[in-house]
Amino acid sequence: MQGMQSSQHPGSNVIITIDGPAGTGKSTVAHNLAARLGLDFLDTGAMYRAAALLALESNIEPANGSALATKIHEVGIKFDWNQDPPGILIGDRDVSKRIRDLDVSEIVSIVAAQSQLRAELVSSQRQIAQEHPRLVTEGRDQGSSVFPDAVVRFFLSASLEIRADRRVEQLENSGTQVSRERIIQDITGRDRLDTERADGPLVRPSGAVDIDTDSLSIEQVVDLMESIVRQTTSEAGLKL
Ligand code: DC
Repeated sequence: MQGMQSSQHPGSNVIITIDGPAGTGKSTVAHNLAARLGLDFLDTGAMYRAAALLALESNIEPANGSALATKIHEVGIKFDWNQDPPGILIGDRDVSKRIRDLDVSEIVSIVAAQSQLRAELVSSQRQIAQEHPRLVTEGRDQGSSVFPDAVVRFFLSASLEIRADRRVEQLENSGTQVSRERIIQDITGRDRLDTERADGPLVRPSGAVDIDTDSLSIEQVVDLMESIVRQTTSEAGLKL
């Protein structure tokens, strides 16, 4: 981004965004891509999950965006960059595992729809990019809204059936038996909340590189992304 080039290292700042719905393998490919390119990795979904956990722990209604934004401002949601992938902290407490629990997943879409809370987290994401200007960042709004000038903006997609199969497999591998019908309903409901919210909805960023992941393995997706990033940054005169 023009305004984000560091004066000490002009041409070495590289922001890559990856957006798309749940079940497209976004987090895994973003983490792998960052490792291959030697960039930092930002999982913005973890920030919304930490906000949802804070709502549960502080007895704040998930739809009370202003109370939540105030609380976050007070206690702080940040990353521990010494871990790989970076751990997420509320204050000084590591909640990286806890934010994946079902009670958090159940309310996170409501929390993520609140404008005041989004403003607070988007502002932290831009601050993080100042401090980590060589970054692969993934979420729903990273290329469309938070970093529209990122040098490459990816948009991942997959069919509902494939996304449901992946989720069922993921849950079964962690010992949870689920009905595929229930998962399809869950994904459809989340898609609706993510795409229909007024603020930072899930949309394809303009000028995005589209990748349909239905028939590709994680490794194939990362290979494809790596070659696109190498070519685009080289054409733009940016150092990797
Ligand atoms: O990717 P995930 O499942 O960890 O995301 C958790 C929730 O946060 C999900 O409901 C989408 C939302 N989210 C968002 O609204 N904007 C982002 N940039 C990232 C995630």
